[in-house]
Amino acid sequence: MDNKDIVVVKNLKRVFEFGESQIYALNGVDLSIKKGEFVVILGPSGAGKTTLLNMIGGIDHPTEGDIIVANENLNEFSNNRMNTYRRNRVGWIFQFFNIIASLRIWENVGLALEFQGMKNKKEIKKRSYDILKKVGLEGKEKRFPSQLSGGEQQRVAIARALVKKPTLIVADEPTGNLDYVTGQHIAELMRKLNEEEGTTFIVVSHDIAITQFADRVYHLKMGKIDKVEDKDQFELNFTKKVKEGE
Ligand SMILES: Nc1ncnc2c1ncn2[C@@H]1O[C@H](COP(=O)(O)OP(=O)(O)O)[C@@H](O)[C@H]1O
Ligand SMILES: [Mg+2]
Repeated sequence: MDNKDIVVVKNLKRVFEFGESQIYALNGVDLSIKKGEFVVILGPSGAGKTTLLNMIGGIDHPTEGDIIVANENLNEFSNNRMNTYRRNRVGWIFQFFNIIASLRIWENVGLALEFQGMKNKKEIKKRSYDILKKVGLEGKEKRFPSQLSGGEQQRVAIARALVKKPTLIVADEPTGNLDYVTGQHIAELMRKLNEEEGTTFIVVSHDIAITQFADRVYHLKMGKIDKVEDKDQFELNFTKKVKEGE
């Protein structure tokens, strides 16, 4: 393990029991992610992407194998420690945004800080407004989610993930519910924030277009890493694929 590694996954397996049969959603995954990297895990539906992300984010447990985040093995966490890990260290971005319809958007962002124990309302509002500005929603802080477009709602979710100053942000198909152009803007925004804030991003997607923004691409296929490409390699292959009209 390199001392710059922020996430190391070793021989990760997750088996789901289905009566008599078993599904290996993950069947021996190894990967390592450096602090500040923007990593894309690409794979078709059913490849195990969500299962992998849920385990890195601490909302599911492996059947076998280890996940080490900032030198701590999640397998060794107590329930309490796991709760603080989820609350403070991991920011989530989902396909369907998962923001609360009855709260103004700055309140949605502020809630993440309240969950962390912040009590000073003025401070919460200021931090929420600051981060909403960063994601391009200045002036819209008091709106409700229904008064925003899909892309804007995803920006709220990004702000909510980022405001916690998490160790890593995990995104599960963040462009999956957006049209192509809006999806590209969201991917670009995540990459910009990754560069500006230095936050590590792990993005899982079946959308090859998002890989343009990645430092490294892991290809996940039937619960296994099939191939790894770094940025330079990927740019070449991507251009080739686009030219060939894939
Ligand atoms: N809770 C579950 N119970 C049973 N099978 C599951 C469960 N979650 C996922 N699976 C199965 O594990 C495999 C991987 O699923 P998933 O991680 O959701 O893939 P992806 O996100 O890449 O589409 C699929 O075959 C899926 O049906
Ligand atoms: Mg999924």
